[in-house]
Amino acid sequence: MSNHMDVQKENGYDAWLHYPRSSHAENRPAWCNVIVVTGEDEVLQTAANELQRGLTSMFGQQPKISVVPVDAPFITLVTFRDHPLVAERFSAEEQADVNAEGYRIRGTEMINPAQSASYDAIKGPYVTVAGQTSKGVLYGVFHLLRWLQERLDGELLLQATSKSSESSDGPFLDVLSNPVNPIRMINHWDNMDGSVERGYAGASIFYENNALTKNMDRLRDYARLLASVGIQSLSINNVNVHQVETELITDKFLSDVARLAAIFRAYGIQIYLSINYASPMQLGGLTTADPLDPGVAEWWRAKAREVYAAVPDLGGFVVKADSENRPGPFSCGRHHADGANMLADALQPYGGRIIWRCFVYDCKQDWRDRKTDRARAAFDHFKPLDGLFRDNVILQIKNGPMDFQVREPVSPLFGALQATQVLLEFQITQEYTGQQRHLCYLVPQWKEVLDFDTYAQGKGSTIKRIVSGSLGRNGSPASPSSTKYTNYGIAAVSNIGADTNWTGHLLAQSNLYGYGRLAWDPELSADEIADEWVRLTFGGHRNRSHTGNSKHLVPVIKKMLLDSWNIYESYTAPLGVGWMVSPGHHYGPDVDGYEYSMWGTYHFADCRGIGVDRTIATGTGYAGQYFSPQADIYESTETCPDELLLFFHHVPYTHMLHSGQTVIQHIYDTHFEGAEHAANLRDTWVSLRDHLDEAIYAQVLERLEHQAEHAKEWRDRINTYFYRKSGIADQKNRPIY
Ligand code: GCU
Repeated sequence: MSNHMDVQKENGYDAWLHYPRSSHAENRPAWCNVIVVTGEDEVLQTAANELQRGLTSMFGQQPKISVVPVDAPFITLVTFRDHPLVAERFSAEEQADVNAEGYRIRGTEMINPAQSASYDAIKGPYVTVAGQTSKGVLYGVFHLLRWLQERLDGELLLQATSKSSESSDGPFLDVLSNPVNPIRMINHWDNMDGSVERGYAGASIFYENNALTKNMDRLRDYARLLASVGIQSLSINNVNVHQVETELITDKFLSDVARLAAIFRAYGIQIYLSINYASPMQLGGLTTADPLDPGVAEWWRAKAREVYAAVPDLGGFVVKADSENRPGPFSCGRHHADGANMLADALQPYGGRIIWRCFVYDCKQDWRDRKTDRARAAFDHFKPLDGLFRDNVILQIKNGPMDFQVREPVSPLFGALQATQVLLEFQITQEYTGQQRHLCYLVPQWKEVLDFDTYAQGKGSTIKRIVSGSLGRNGSPASPSSTKYTNYGIAAVSNIGADTNWTGHLLAQSNLYGYGRLAWDPELSADEIADEWVRLTFGGHRNRSHTGNSKHLVPVIKKMLLDSWNIYESYTAPLGVGWMVSPGHHYGPDVDGYEYSMWGTYHFADCRGIGVDRTIATGTGYAGQYFSPQADIYESTETCPDELLLFFHHVPYTHMLHSGQTVIQHIYDTHFEGAEHAANLRDTWVSLRDHLDEAIYAQVLERLEHQAEHAKEWRDRINTYFYRKSGIADQKNRPIY
């Protein structure tokens, strides 16, 4: 329960769910007295408990949970199906507008007694949170709690009571919200030894010493955070499935998996396991993992039976195959549809899904080979398989063709696949964007991806319409028992760990929050999401002025977030060329770190110019993987956007950008400005000192100080490298070494 004196909470542990005490608790709406909930459903109980917890924290009085309507204002939590009286509140059409996980919230004065035999005894307003399913109700409860939090500072709170609505006949609260993406998933890259691949916030909260954690409370608190922003799918182990994790699907660990599933189930979250494609050999002693071998298929069918006996509602398997040295169907001369379909058939009787990753490329490339282009790889492998996958297979595609760089074009595979279900993969963990030591609010980047128009089916064929399944593709799924358009959505790699504040950098919580909100509704703006997050996180006792939603903090912290992606981009690799990081751990500047490696990640800088020629005319032909007009736009330096110029073209340092600056001067300018802006982020935070809780202030300051220093290192390494390569001086004569 939130408490002003609770020190742990001041470390950011309760994130955006800290529900500060209202400075005008006396204005608490009367309907916050009682929560009426009917039904035994576990998720509905969770919803009631969450509401009770939030209201108690905000108003200092614990509402009663009742199973029958009472003769006083109340909040009722209902599913349309299970509540006979709900028709009095929502017409059949209004109910039909709500999808499987959506909700309606309505708050009105006492309804017209003539219309109701049941509620006419109620004096004053009451609120209904309703959905088709209890999950919808749970999401509605978190919406209601956000709505109340925005009104904690008195005047607005009054409007949430009967008093302000006396003059009007309409509801004082009327909301309809449906999640746009059917699947809203988080992928954990946690290993059972407790490490987290690309984790920057401490150890795994799931595992330690090759066993399940004993800290179930922490997992439950994580489930709360996820459910509060609408996440309903969670893969619980690294896509690189090592020795011990391969055994997660055996009786050694299945009871642990079942315990995990139970915790998340209570919050409406379905779990998935990442599996090792070679399991039949490693676990079953078979001599092959060939997907067309009947013995292999039978092994997986038996395995699925065993796994689903332990966890009947398991979401399915996530598979990284033939990728970065992981086993897959290639070694048996089979293709990815063979592999995915064989697994899909094994899971089909249980409603399980196969989420098959498309991060497949040659990671043993010869840097001298200028023809092979890693950017082309996903399209080249998967486009020929379009339409061959089973209904319960979903291809998971990274947002860009390379690997979560600060700037990349959008993967052309989304447009190219016309008859295959897809999941878009984002990376919340900041592997290449500052590793949660630099501030980088990623929602603006994700927005650009979602808004990108592929032109696959003419103008308006945006990524957000493709991945939500709403575009409607040309082909039809392979099997006649079509579940078309339900197996779509977004997944993202988690940024949390065992650090008390979950994300290491407190401000990186905004990326987890923002991801969930955006996956629910891709139309929300980066600004709106930042606004919500700052208010929920810094309202109340975290700001020393104790005015609830601090008027002072919100615009300032919001601007820091909104500027941060561009700032990070400006002092790191320029104009979309990417990489330039230290190999292995990927932190810090190293311009040639990956230049002569086998990973296919090159910038080709020499004394004359820089960039990768990916044109159709003279380069690798990657630009030709897009539909027109995007292909034509990227093909020509005349039309290619500046920020992606070096991704698509090799140009001289004196090439003039659309901005009116040469490439070399752009590099110098952005790097000097970037480091300056990073220092400004720190100074801005310092200026907020008097308004912030001391501990929160200090933990963020420490990160921003590091960022300011590290940005200088980036600036000087990059500028010096290109000065030495090009021999061209900075027009403004600033220090370059
Ligand atoms: C990146 C990352 C790896 C990860 C891989 C993947 O290459 O550095 O750690 O395993 O992506 O997405 O599979």
